[in-house]
This record gives sequence, C-alpha cells and structure tokens, in this order.
Amino acid sequence: MTSDSRQAPADAVDPNLVPQRTLYTGAKMPAIGLGTFGSDHISHQVVAETVLAAAEVGYRHFDCASVYGNEDLIGLSFQNILRDGLQRKHLWITSKLWNDKHGEADVIASCEKSLRDLRLDYLDLYLVHWPFPNHHPPGCDVNVRNPHAVPYIHENYMRTWRKMEELVDRGLVRHIGTSNMTVPKMKLVLRDARIKPAANEMELHPHFQQPEFFQYLLDNGIAPIGYSPIGSPGRPDRDRTPQDTSPTEDPVILKIAARLGIHPAVVCLKWAVQRGQTPIPFSANRRNLFANLRGVVDAPLTAEDMKAIQAIDRNCRLIKGQVFLWKDNQSWEDLWDIHGEITAP
Ligand SMILES: NC(=O)c1ccc[n+]([C@@H]2O[C@H](COP(=O)([O-])OP(=O)(O)OC[C@H]3O[C@@H](n4cnc5c(N)ncnc54)[C@H](OP(=O)(O)O)[C@@H]3O)[C@@H](O)[C@H]2O)c1
Repeated sequence: MTSDSRQAPADAVDPNLVPQRTLYTGAKMPAIGLGTFGSDHISHQVVAETVLAAAEVGYRHFDCASVYGNEDLIGLSFQNILRDGLQRKHLWITSKLWNDKHGEADVIASCEKSLRDLRLDYLDLYLVHWPFPNHHPPGCDVNVRNPHAVPYIHENYMRTWRKMEELVDRGLVRHIGTSNMTVPKMKLVLRDARIKPAANEMELHPHFQQPEFFQYLLDNGIAPIGYSPIGSPGRPDRDRTPQDTSPTEDPVILKIAARLGIHPAVVCLKWAVQRGQTPIPFSANRRNLFANLRGVVDAPLTAEDMKAIQAIDRNCRLIKGQVFLWKDNQSWEDLWDIHGEITAP
C-alpha cells in the first residue's frame, strides 16, 4: 500500500494516519479493517452498503469470505469505490477459502470465484478459513455434525496449502495465510510451507488474548489479525453459552472508556492496535464506524491502561467452532489443542 491523497469527508479519518503493519514481504496492511460477516441478521445488501460507507469514512482494509454469502454484493461496492477514483493499490482486501473447498481441484477455482464476485484482479490476502475440511449447512445448530468430518490431518492441509502457494505463483493473491490455527498446527505448517503464512486470523479481544500464540506469531513474523475484537456482541445465538463474558462490560474497560469519554468498544480497538494485532471490527452504523477508526488514530492508551487490560484476560473463547468437531460427545476444546499438541483422532 502506498499513500492515499484523496480528500476525506467531514465524518472521516485520513487513511494516511491509520497505523500500518509491515508484513514479512515488506507489504503494508492497515492495522484496522472492516469485518463483513453480517452475523446472520444483517442483510447482505446492508453489509455491502456498509463497505461503501466505511470507505468514505476512511477504511481501506476489508475482511471478506466466500462463506459470508455477500461477496457478489460487496464486489459492486468495490466497483463503485474504484470507479469513484480510489486506486486498487490503496485497498487491502482479504478473502477466505471455505471448508468445503480444501480439495486440490477446488482451491484455485474457489479463489477465482471470490475474485469474480468481488470484481477484483487479485486479493491482498487469501486465508484458509478453518484448518478442518468439515463443513455444515450455514446457520445450523451447534450440535449438527458432518458425517464425513475429520480431525486436523497435516498432510491434507499441506495439499491445500500447495494450491494456496500456487495462487501466489499465479499472481491471483499477494499473500496467503491461515485462520483459527493453534501453536502445534502452525509449527508444522512453518516446517513444511514453501511460502509461509503472512498472517493468521484468530479471535482476539481483552477477554481472549491468546498470549502464547500471539507471541509465537510475532516471533515468527506472522501478523495476527484479530476477529470479534469487541467481543462480537451481535453474534448469532448459536454462538452463545452461559459461560461467555463480554469485554465491553468489564469494569476495567468501562472505567477507561468513562475517563476518555469513548465507547468501551473503542477502548477494545485502541488496545488491539497498540498491542500489535490488526482488529477487524464489524459495524453497520456509520457513527460507530467513524468512532472506531478515529479511536485508533487518536491519543493512545497509557501504559497503565495497557497493563490493566492485559490483566483482565479471561481465556474466554466466544467462537468455539463446535460444528467442526468430528465425533459425537467431544468437547469443543479438542479443536484448539489446549494441551499443547494436536488433538488425536
Ligand atoms: N476468521 C474467522 O473465522 C472469523 C470468525 C468470526 C468473525 N470474523 C471476522 O471478524 C469480523 C468482526 O467480528 P464480529 O462481527 O464477530 O464481532 P465484533 O467486530 O467484535 O462486533 C461487532 C458488533 O459490535 C458492535 N459495534 C461495533 N462498533 C461499535 C461501537 N463503536 N459502539 C458500540 N457497538 C459497536 C456492532 O454493532 P453496530 O452494527 O450496531 O455498530 C456489532 O454488533 C467479522 O465481521 C468477520 O469479518 C472472522
């Protein structure tokens, strides 16, 4: 990405002020992006309109995925944004390979479909959305299981990854990356990849900081991209359990927000960018879009604030991924290798 000299409207942030992450290739990625998953209750049309509004407000980084079902409409928004004079090189656009497309014959075709839908010649980043090829009907109950579901099989993942590498060779994507990984899985990928992941997308917010994995990624030159950075207050009911906590209701976050006169959501985003991850919050509300982007260019949190937020980690994973389990009566924790090794079949 190079600098963008367009005039910003009144309720907008100058994109040139937004912090950037430098990836191991030297490419620059805006350190905050817009999520585009409508959590099943925001229509595809509204998400596409949100992309247009976000570009006006100053967002240049967009996190898309084929499974969100809205790439064709978002593509029309990108077409308008580019027609209005913004250059492609000033945008950072991510998409993701869904779980039913891990087959060697499917990876390139799936990326090409996302490119067609998004009306783009290339993606800045293409991620393997989940490390399991286990798919399920969209919006289904968390107890639904795919009868063909399997655990993580590294050889199979690397077959998929070889095709991801081919996407880079062919110039269809500039970077490839992973999502929903763990340290043990990532170690194997780093051992065997020809083109290493540039980024890993993962749940990250003040109540789920994943400190060990986060540091592992930084140590290995992989950019952590944080999803559900506000604690996904609008997530579907199927992704809620009674044990879940909410970072925007945490007394430490509330106190900082009150002192600064900002919404607790904005405190979560300021913390995220300062800590070194790239949050990708969703909002369908232009006022919130603006507040979120302004929050990461305004005065930073103090060192005391950062320390206080570090101390409120509750290891509370909200997006547990139950539908990707491969056996009945399994704990969702089996997906996440919590004992430090890949969970056995
Ligand atoms: N890789 C993966 O597996 C994966 C998984 C989950 C999500 N993601 C990505 O991450 C993105 C974000 O995650 P998410 O949507 O789950 O959660 P999130 O960004 O943590 O939360 C979004 C919610 O926060 C509210 N919000 C945003 N800014 C606000 C503000 N300033 N004040 C008050 N409320 C505010 C929004 O409501 P309003 O609309 O009313 O502002 C919306 O309901 C997704 O859209 C998707 O792109 C990726």
